[in-house]
Amino acid sequence: MSPPLTTITTTSIFSQSKPPPPLYTFLFLTTLCFLAFFYILNPSQNPKTTLFHTTTLFLSSSSNSTISSYLHSLTLHSHLAGTNPSLDTVNYVFSFFKKLKLETHIREYQVLLSYPVKSTLSAHFSNGSFVNFNMNEFVDISESEKIVAPYHAYSPSGTVHAKVVFVNYGREVDYNALGVLGVNVSGCVVLARKGGGLNRGGVVKIAESKGAVAVLLYAEEGRVSGGVERGTVMRGAGDPLTPGWAGVEGGERLGLEDSEVLERFPKIPSLPLSFGNADVILGSLGGQAGPPEWRHSVDRRSRVLRVGPGPTTVNFTYQ
Ligand SMILES: *[C@@H]1O[C@H](CO)[C@@H](O)[C@H](O)[C@H]1NC(C)=O
Ligand SMILES: *[C@@H]1O[C@H](CO)[C@@H](O)[C@H](O)[C@H]1NC(C)=O
Ligand SMILES: *[C@@H]1O[C@H](CO)[C@@H](O)[C@H](O)[C@H]1NC(C)=O
Ligand SMILES: *[C@@H]1O[C@H](CO)[C@@H](O)[C@H](O)[C@H]1NC(C)=O
Repeated sequence: MSPPLTTITTTSIFSQSKPPPPLYTFLFLTTLCFLAFFYILNPSQNPKTTLFHTTTLFLSSSSNSTISSYLHSLTLHSHLAGTNPSLDTVNYVFSFFKKLKLETHIREYQVLLSYPVKSTLSAHFSNGSFVNFNMNEFVDISESEKIVAPYHAYSPSGTVHAKVVFVNYGREVDYNALGVLGVNVSGCVVLARKGGGLNRGGVVKIAESKGAVAVLLYAEEGRVSGGVERGTVMRGAGDPLTPGWAGVEGGERLGLEDSEVLERFPKIPSLPLSFGNADVILGSLGGQAGPPEWRHSVDRRSRVLRVGPGPTTVNFTYQ
């Protein structure tokens, strides 16, 4: 039941004097692009800085087609932080920056990461039938093509068997709307769709405060019913053990039991779900009809008919 957390060494790459957080190499690249646009649009503001030189060089070295090919190469394989494929990504960016004659360094950070071990999910319907959702679709294929099992990083482990309630985007206003209908999610698994201005951690935090025992989160936007969005449910950014400073080797880090660390982790487990699987559960819920505005789903099928609780239950295990 302990969280699947492991302290590992991860690697980051940067070409400026201020190192970015370790997991954000790609974000850093994107930021550099934005900065470059900013400086090009406003050259008079700071024309002499090396950043201007760097970003101009960076921009002049790429075009739409090269950016598209970089993106293709970088996203061809999964590169979960702290794994070997992630080191390949670092080396790829490193060699590109080097080729552009940018001053480039690789730095190591020791951060607390979270990896999935196992997850199972089944839905049990009022007519006695049930479905076992395949949580590892596309995962158990050849080693080189291996993708990351759907999970929420920093979710605690847990096993839950409870009725499902649909909570729309999982915002306070959504729970208020459920309250008006007399629906109480205490002791239930909440099913939420992504969006409405809340991040994953926010959805879980509110669900926890309402007494929910687990969270299932699905994304509608993809329109690919088999796609599953991975992500983190930690509160705040960066390394949980070094909030606000860099996780360098030998540096100060908080303990796992430190209250400042504990409050960043959710207390209830959660899993991401594909739209297709979420739709199976949604279509089987009874109870109250959801508020009319909830039916304006992005998806054409708009299956948000009833919100539960139940009668469908889910049996949920995450480790
Ligand atoms: C690059 O793509 C953007 C966005 O699609 C487009 O607005 C721009 O005109 C393109 N630039 C070139 C040089 O093709
Ligand atoms: C929901 O039910 C729980 C447990 O029965 C109870 O403690 C809680 O006050 C209820 N919440 C609301 C808003 O009625
Ligand atoms: C039982 O209910 C589920 C969900 O409503 C439905 O998909 C399934 O076909 C039903 N099974 C039988 C045997 O009626
Ligand atoms: C829930 O799933 C677990 C793991 O698959 C299984 O061991 C357990 O018997 C299931 N419980 C129920 C009530 O279906």
